[in-house]
Amino acid sequence: MKQVDRGALLCWYDCSRRDLPWRRTKDPYAIWVSEIMLQQTQVSTVIPYFERWMARFPTVESLAVADEQDVLSLWQGLGYYRRCRLLADGARWVVSHGLPRTAAEWLAVPGVGPYTSGAIASISVDDPAPLVDGNVERVYARFAGDSSVGLLLHRNAWDWARLNLDSERPGDYNQALMELGATVCRPVGAECGRCPLASDCIARAHGLVEVLPTKVAKAKPIRLTHHVWVPYHSGLFGLMQIPPGQWWEGMWEFPRFDRVSELEGLLGSAVVEALGEHRHTVTNHRITIHASLFQTSSQLKELRWVTESELAGLPMPAPQRRVLQLAQTYLLG
Ligand code: ADE
Repeated sequence: MKQVDRGALLCWYDCSRRDLPWRRTKDPYAIWVSEIMLQQTQVSTVIPYFERWMARFPTVESLAVADEQDVLSLWQGLGYYRRCRLLADGARWVVSHGLPRTAAEWLAVPGVGPYTSGAIASISVDDPAPLVDGNVERVYARFAGDSSVGLLLHRNAWDWARLNLDSERPGDYNQALMELGATVCRPVGAECGRCPLASDCIARAHGLVEVLPTKVAKAKPIRLTHHVWVPYHSGLFGLMQIPPGQWWEGMWEFPRFDRVSELEGLLGSAVVEALGEHRHTVTNHRITIHASLFQTSSQLKELRWVTESELAGLPMPAPQRRVLQLAQTYLLG
């Protein structure tokens, strides 16, 4: 296999790179925030979240002392909330241990793994640390004509990234590889005519671009049904805080049950109106939510009762916000 033509790749990156807010800074904290947000989320979705986040928590110190509910509210809608908790844990770690510099030092921070440590250190201080994300893995598989899958492909891609790293501009080199995967060497519809590495690419030479990386069957989706009840009394909505250990812990939701029978004790003299159905995907779970309005004759004491405007300021999972919209439409109606 050929070495990566680093000059050609960096030259392409210098001309073709997207102008993204986190590329206008060398602040390791800002790069860290962007890298965590970009995990499992598209660039176009991340941009407004990143800008709001940096305006509200401009320094690692401001994040370290932030209220958990404010942090969750700002992350609301990005999903995978574990990332945001770990970012806040990481900020507290950095404030007490000092700001890391190299990738090896960043690895000690909670929530920072091999990819993120390589990204932060190479981009912020040009530490010569390699990295592999999904985009780089695909570029590697095609460039090298590697048909392996899973852990083996991942290991091979890390070895390749390490061997080909540019020691003068490691941060730009890493970003160039990721940018190439995101914009040219795309999963479907790769534009080899625009690729600076095309002449050395084994997949291109053998007509394998569309078949590499080798596809693996996805796990079957798990289907779940939830019943969500919107308690309503005299203009106030009733909420529960999601307990530790569950998806979305610490956020607020309307009572949610797996079976209608679990609700029977709560029903009493309440008036129940069906609001409709809503479908939602979390990881490989396909959840169907049956939403109902639950007009109670008193304020059940197990719940926190809030006005519509208080509700707007509380962190709530996206599918619960959707249920709230259904209830608001009904109540206006
Ligand atoms: N994906 C995640 N971080 C990135 C970066 N800094 N450049 C390009 N793609 C990325």
